[in-house]
This record gives sequence, C-alpha cells and structure tokens, in this order.
Amino acid sequence: MWGGRFAAGPSAIMREINASIPFDKALWRQDIAASKAHVGMLAAQGIVTVEDAELIAGGLDQVAAEYEASGVPENWDLEDIHMTTESRLAELIGPAAGRLHTARSRNDQVATDFRLWVRDAMDQAEEGLRQLQLALVARAGEHADSIMPGFTHLQTAQPVTLGHHLMAYCEMAGRDRSRFADARKRMNRSPLGAAALAGTGFPIDRFRTAEALGFDGPTDNSLDSVSDRDFALDYLMAAAQCSLHLSRLAEEFIIWASQPFGFVTLPDSLSTGSSIMPQKKNPDAAELVRGHSGRIVGCLTSLMITMKGLPLAYSKDMQDDKPPVFEAASLLALSIAAMTGMVAEATFRTDRMRAAAELGYATATDLADWLVRQANIPFREAHHITGSAVKLAESRGIALDQLPLEDLQAIDPRIDERVYAALSVEASVAARASHGGTAPVEVRKRVAEARIALGLE
Ligand code: ARG
Repeated sequence: MWGGRFAAGPSAIMREINASIPFDKALWRQDIAASKAHVGMLAAQGIVTVEDAELIAGGLDQVAAEYEASGVPENWDLEDIHMTTESRLAELIGPAAGRLHTARSRNDQVATDFRLWVRDAMDQAEEGLRQLQLALVARAGEHADSIMPGFTHLQTAQPVTLGHHLMAYCEMAGRDRSRFADARKRMNRSPLGAAALAGTGFPIDRFRTAEALGFDGPTDNSLDSVSDRDFALDYLMAAAQCSLHLSRLAEEFIIWASQPFGFVTLPDSLSTGSSIMPQKKNPDAAELVRGHSGRIVGCLTSLMITMKGLPLAYSKDMQDDKPPVFEAASLLALSIAAMTGMVAEATFRTDRMRAAAELGYATATDLADWLVRQANIPFREAHHITGSAVKLAESRGIALDQLPLEDLQAIDPRIDERVYAALSVEASVAARASHGGTAPVEVRKRVAEARIALGLE
C-alpha cells in the first residue's frame, strides 16, 4: 500500500510487531459499514463516479459475505482490517477499488470503526445491566419481608430485609447503565473525514457520513478526531466501575453460600464440583466474576497508560487500544450474564437468614432508640445503657429480648415491659420506614418504582 517510497520490504519482526489483523479483524463489520458510507458520500459529492461507487459498494458487500462465511483471513503483510478489506476489494473489482481511499486515511478510518464498535459495546452493556436489574427486582419483590442480618465491618449491625439488600445492587446497576448512556451520548460524533490529521482538500460532506453511520454529527477538530480515544476510556471506566459492583455482589454470594453462613444455595448450573471432595459445590462462577473485575480494571489501566504521553496526532501506540477494550467487553458481558443467572436462580435460605438476624444483638439500636423515645433519654446515654444490657445478655449467652424485665430495670429503672415489642427483628425492620430505609413497606415502594422504570408496569 505504501511500496512507492521504499527500497526494501519490512523484516519479519517488523511485519509481526506491526500486524493488528489478529485482533482488529473484530472490526470488520464496522469497517465495511464506514467504507460504504464514505463511498456513497464521495459519489454524492461528485468526487468519484456513481458507477465506481456502485462497483465499490457491491464489492464491499461481497467481501462482507466472504468474511461472514469463512472468517477474516489473517495476512500479516496486510497489517490490519482496513488493508485486508481494501486488498480483497481490489482482487474482486480491480482498479476502481483504489478510489475508495480518496479523502480518507486509516487514521480517521480506524477512529470511526472503533467508535462504532465501542458504541455497540456500550449498548450491549446497558441491555445486559437491564436484565440484571429485572432479576434483582423480581427477587427483591419476593423477599421484601425476608429478614436477614445487615452488616457493617461484616459484623452483625441491624436487621435488614433481603429485598432491601438486593435493591441496593439494583441502584448500582442503574448508575452503571447511566454511565454507559452518558458516555455513549458524549462519544456519538463521527471522526470520518478528519483524514490523516489535517482534514482534506476534497469537497467531502462529513455531515452526510456521520448521519449514515448513526452519529449525531461530525467531530469538530481533525487533530482531536484521530487522536482521541476518550470514548474507549469512558467505556473502560464505566466497565471497570460496573465490574466492581459485580465483584462485590459475587463476593456476597460466595460468603452467603459458605457453610457457616448458609444463606443461599447457588444454582447447580453456575457451580462446579471438586475432583477429590465429593461433597463440594464451589461458587466458581462468582469467584471468576470477582477475578474478572481485576482484569477489567487492568484493561482500563493499560489504555490509560498507552494514551498518557502521546503527542498529537496519531501514533502507532494507539493500535494497542483495541485488545484491552475487546478483552474488557467480553469479560464484562460474561460477568453480567453470570450474576444475572445467579440472582435469578439462587435459592435464598430465609430461615437461616432470619435465625442469623436474631444473633449478634442486631436490635440493640432499637433498645437505645426506644429509651430516647419513651424515656426522653439523650441518645449517648441510651447507647451506654444499651451497651450494659448487651454485656449482661452476652454473659448469659441469651438474646436481648430474653433478659427478664427486672434485670433490664436494674440497669435502668426507666425501662418497662413495652420495650419487648421494640426488640423483635420484625419490629426493628418495620420501624425503619424513612425514605430508602429497609422497612418492607419502603422496599415494596422501591420495587414498584423500579418496575415502572424498567417498563414492567
Ligand atoms: N492498524 C492501525 C491501528 O489500529 C490503523 C491506523 C494506521 N495508521 C497509520 N498511520 N499507520 O491503529
């Protein structure tokens, strides 16, 4: 493609280090679509003849059909998907193929193809997260009343409802969706026509190609157009943040599925056995989601470091933008799908959760709150009185509400028998009906709102 200037061909090492076709062949659909938009515009602007444009567009369709049928051939001499396609086009239609690259460079071509690919990946992530939200909302609706211990520091803190806990992840997935949607809006401009870096002297119509490819319009600076990989970084940042959420959810399933917890039985379809221990059922899918999040963060780091020192405009380092994005996208899609299946099919052992909520003095705050409300005791003092009650109950190995009234009154005479009604885990969760609180009535409201937002109602 550039032989004119050179006396000798590239060394074997040059060919190998230069070749991006092994990975950028994933862009073939985008490359064909962008070329068709470009040649259509060239004809409309009178830059190539309508006959040549039709010949080229027909040839591109034929190349696409070949790729579809037998894959993209990997010839390192052709370096990348752009040259691979153009060279096949030339074999098929002859010299007219050479007119396709008028008023275009691989620099704006790759920027366009990659944007189109990342835009699809953003849409797919958003749709995957919607499916995850549907699963979370369904299970949260079933378990608006199921009581479990809520933790801070992974120590029993206060009783919560399982529905509330699941809806917390629905919130996270909602923010993740909005991050992908924001990024998509920001990136949806077409770099095609920026050419190598400076624009072109041909009378092209960048608005036309932008529209043909579903962009909101063309980018406004040719140097920025071919140098910008913010869109890929925005995608990776959203993917990394999303993968952290998935990893935290996975971690909870792993803990909950462990025998001492026994809060959940994971679906057989997302678990594995052990080759030596016959009793084992391991949460491998959840562990891999936790592991994959590390790799996705690594992909983000990789591209940030690739980009950070590059002068304008295009540098070949930027060819290394694709592997981390492709890797992150496939890891993320798998992770979202695995956690969606896990949420949808897990068996929650609500009896075990309820029993665990009774342990660990989870309603101690309710005793303190009761003292504030019923006896008008300042919260700090109520906290201290309650601490003494917990210490006494703990020394006897019993729950707070198993302490006889005389013993509670010996700690503070202002306590009376009405306190027992506040000490049950049911009373504790029901009391927390502040907006966004764990009370079943609040959880049901949030589930109803989420169902509307998801288009279920
Ligand atoms: N294979 C290249 C990439 O992925 C295409 C752009 C090449 N441009 C250039 N000036 N060498 O970035």
